[in-house]
Amino acid sequence: MSKNIKHDFVEKRVGWLAVLMTIAISIGGLVEITPLLFQKQTNEPVIGLKPYTALEMEGRDVYIREGCNNCHSQMIRPFRSETERYGHYSLAGEHVWERPHLWGSKRTGPDLARVGGRYSDEWHYVHLMNPRDVVPESNMPGFPWLAENTLDGELTAKKLEVFRKFGAPYTDEEIAGAKAAVQGKTEMEALIAYLQVLGTGLTQAK
Ligand code: HEC
Repeated sequence: MSKNIKHDFVEKRVGWLAVLMTIAISIGGLVEITPLLFQKQTNEPVIGLKPYTALEMEGRDVYIREGCNNCHSQMIRPFRSETERYGHYSLAGEHVWERPHLWGSKRTGPDLARVGGRYSDEWHYVHLMNPRDVVPESNMPGFPWLAENTLDGELTAKKLEVFRKFGAPYTDEEIAGAKAAVQGKTEMEALIAYLQVLGTGLTQAK
């Protein structure tokens, strides 16, 4: 009886209900999230992890601009159905330098977290020009303009500098040479370089 009265109290007072819910959810959130901020496993890069080269970094920005992440996730969950299809599940330590993360959850197409090395550069080229040339049933759009757009590299050094602030161990020489490393290359070359490195941080460690 007394239990019901207590429950009635919050059910009939929306303000109190909101306040108590906020407190309950905040505690739950803090208990789950706070420890992760201090755990080595989630803060330290996996052994042998390399930061993106200048060209891969530009490819990553093409990936974001073209909205590839609207159809592709980059996070393999620790379930057998996923690890058998895509490879080792994703580790926090593979993504410590990355902002913003491109994990996502929308999978119109397959997860790309470990697509690096799965296909040749030529395959990616043909696939990105017109996916149906290699996967007849594909509903992925083609991105043929990427083969024509060239990079001027004006902002590449800045991008590496920003990532260095997040901890990526770039040397001054790498930053100084960033513009020259990408200038004149096509966006297609940059995007393929990026795709080919995805998920290889772990294999490098072996
Ligand atoms: C409208 C949704 C959509 C968008 C946008 C999209 N894709 Fe896809 N993608 C797919 C689908 C569906 C497949 C599976 C069929 C195929 O291989 O073409 C796929 C397959 C792929 C594959 C092969 C993966 C594998 O393991 O076989 C790669 C690589 C890929 N996409 C890269 C990209 C990139 C890079 C972009 C952005 C430039 C992009 N996709 C944009 C839907 C999309």
